[in-house]
Amino acid sequence: MPDTEGRSCPLAYRYRPEELCREPTHVFDSVLYIVGGLYGNPFALDEIEAMVRAEQRHGHRVKLVFNGDFNWFNADAALFREINGRVLDHTAILGNVDYELSIPNAGAGCGCAYPEYVGQAVVERSNQIMERLQALANQHPDIQKKLSVLPRYRCLIFGGLKILVLHGDPQSLAGWGLAHESFAAGNEEQLADWFRATDADVIACTHTCLPVVWSSEVDGKQRMVANNGAAGMGNLRADSRGLVTRIGFTSPFAEPLAGIARPGLHVSLMPVAYDVDAWLSQFDRLWPEGSPAAASYRSRLTGGTHLTPEDVVFPSFR
Ligand SMILES: [Fe+2]
Repeated sequence: MPDTEGRSCPLAYRYRPEELCREPTHVFDSVLYIVGGLYGNPFALDEIEAMVRAEQRHGHRVKLVFNGDFNWFNADAALFREINGRVLDHTAILGNVDYELSIPNAGAGCGCAYPEYVGQAVVERSNQIMERLQALANQHPDIQKKLSVLPRYRCLIFGGLKILVLHGDPQSLAGWGLAHESFAAGNEEQLADWFRATDADVIACTHTCLPVVWSSEVDGKQRMVANNGAAGMGNLRADSRGLVTRIGFTSPFAEPLAGIARPGLHVSLMPVAYDVDAWLSQFDRLWPEGSPAAASYRSRLTGGTHLTPEDVVFPSFR
């Protein structure tokens, strides 16, 4: 296996920031739920659908948008078909996982484009997970075909604002430029350039598995980034709940984990309190002890990450 597998960024993932909001679509809903990194978890999807129904009971019209990597742990035929069947009923864009399942890029491995600070063992396990999932996907050409026509990004006009929905960052589907690590390192100049080039008001992303909300002014306009981390895995210390990005004209009726508000616009990370035990029993059947997914992810499913809620919000004034 070449060392670059899982590290490099395939050419097909690349796009230019100026292209991303060139052909926006108007949406007429009052709430957007942006779901990144479901990772094949059907119980998280059950909970997200219940959250949507609760919004609807409050009179909100909700649009569900899946921004990629809805596949990952769903490594049997029934669950593979279920996840894709349920997700593809909604608006969806490709993540690198979904991309590599439909149109594999030679030598891309998992397509994660992992940066140097991610250890080689993690990268190799992700490539092994991808190989198993690709073998499964090849038995479902109807789903591969549906995935292959999904876009790589969407720009939505929502209440007069441009909401740019992408998987990685404004230059690559698997880019790490909007990762928590990138905000922690201080990427203000790059961010300002991306907002100028896209003219987006809000960028909603995922891929890098740790949540971020960021807000600042660029060229006299307030701009925001929401990275939901993972919808189908825990995101904070000792917290197994997934997260989705909610964008609404009104505040959420449940308590967000983090958010930014201004008159008429609320961007919030909403916890997804799904049935973890039910998912673990299915996960353990699919990925028993010693399997690459168990080694990389099982402890995260139960115990979350190292982050506290305060770590999620940027700029940080601590
Ligand atoms: Fe991804």
